[in-house]
Amino acid sequence: MNDSLLWFLPFGLQGLAMGVDEFWFHHRRTLPRGEWMGHALDTSVFLACLACPLLLPPTGPNISLFGVLAVISCLLITKDEFIHQRLCTGGEHWVHAVLFILHPLVLMATALLWISSKATPLAGIPTPPLTAARGMLLFQCFAVSGFLAFQVVYWSTRKQPEGAEPTINNALYDELGERWYTATDDPVALLRSESRLRTSWVLSEIRAHFGDPPQAILDVGCGAGFLANALAEAGHAVTGIDLSRESLAVAHRHDATRSVIYRAMDARVLSLPDGRFDVVCMMDFLEHLVERDAVIREASRVLRPGGFFYFHTFNRTPISWLIAIKGVEWFVRNTPKHMHVYDLFLKPAELRDMCARHHLTIEVVRGVRPRIFTWAFLRLLLTGRVSDQFQFIFTGSQRVGYCGRALKIA
Ligand SMILES: C[S@@+](CC[C@H](N)C(=O)[O-])C[C@H]1O[C@@H](n2cnc3c(N)ncnc32)[C@H](O)[C@@H]1O
Repeated sequence: MNDSLLWFLPFGLQGLAMGVDEFWFHHRRTLPRGEWMGHALDTSVFLACLACPLLLPPTGPNISLFGVLAVISCLLITKDEFIHQRLCTGGEHWVHAVLFILHPLVLMATALLWISSKATPLAGIPTPPLTAARGMLLFQCFAVSGFLAFQVVYWSTRKQPEGAEPTINNALYDELGERWYTATDDPVALLRSESRLRTSWVLSEIRAHFGDPPQAILDVGCGAGFLANALAEAGHAVTGIDLSRESLAVAHRHDATRSVIYRAMDARVLSLPDGRFDVVCMMDFLEHLVERDAVIREASRVLRPGGFFYFHTFNRTPISWLIAIKGVEWFVRNTPKHMHVYDLFLKPAELRDMCARHHLTIEVVRGVRPRIFTWAFLRLLLTGRVSDQFQFIFTGSQRVGYCGRALKIA
């Protein structure tokens, strides 16, 4: 066979295997959202590898960058094996196995073609003419970009199979006990860290709007009382409600003021009088249940006109899926299954509409995200532990998490 054709063989076989996998197997079984988003991520990293030879000269640092991306890409494509174990037929498993072999071969061929484009050809290895190699890589880049566009458009618009989205796991809060306050090897440590940012913001907001007098404040889904206890320490009259009695017991133990009224109650039907509170808070709560409209209606009912509703939740974007769901699952130890469910994340515009239906006007929205490029962040990536130095910060973008304030009108 012609030497040049041999070089292109892995690319052709990979394209064929990917086509069979996507257009036969995936199309027939349909992909859960988490899986297709993961596939789009695989394709993006692969595309970044293919773009290197087209955009960069084959210098030492550039080849090292390619090497790192190629290793990440090879590992990334195997990440769905746990999902495949449950959902795939033998035929699909076989195609995946073929792809796992072809993927590193394609990346190796890409690197060798790139290096051979230097003035000195590879010693003793016949390579295709430069223009053919470049044309081949360019074609590959276009084809993979088209495939990526197809994956995103097709799967984001195709109806999810009934019951494909898992139900949210709220039982995990019953098991935490003192770990609410002490664990560093659990995502609850991220919640503590986020809570530090939100608590000081809510306190400064209340001071700015109402001055020093104590306010009547309801913390809905208060968990172990991170916010409720801090508000009570600042002198406010606080009620905290949650479905988890175990969490409420922890909250009560940590209430230094002994003043917070903790009650087991369902946020969807609050047994509290109309207009009873100056402030209602829902921190990391709205993404934990389906009936958001009902809980916002209840929050508004118990809030007096002129009172404030403070919230924090997650946006429904690919980046929040990557950071708040997958990033936490991959890196933070002991992350339980379905702690967050993508479908329950809320876009700011959806929340705005829900609030407006119940006499709440959103006045302020602020993006929230973890602070990266810090030792604490690096430590988390390397050890799976969230230290007390780990921080969240406010940011202009609301694409990951966001918090805000709404005013109760008449
Ligand atoms: C992520 S935790 C947030 C706790 C707290 N707001 C914080 O920021 O630390 C979510 C809480 O919502 C509670 N929860 C879930 N569904 C609820 C409901 N229908 N009514 C009241 N609480 C609920 C859970 O028990 C859990 O404590």
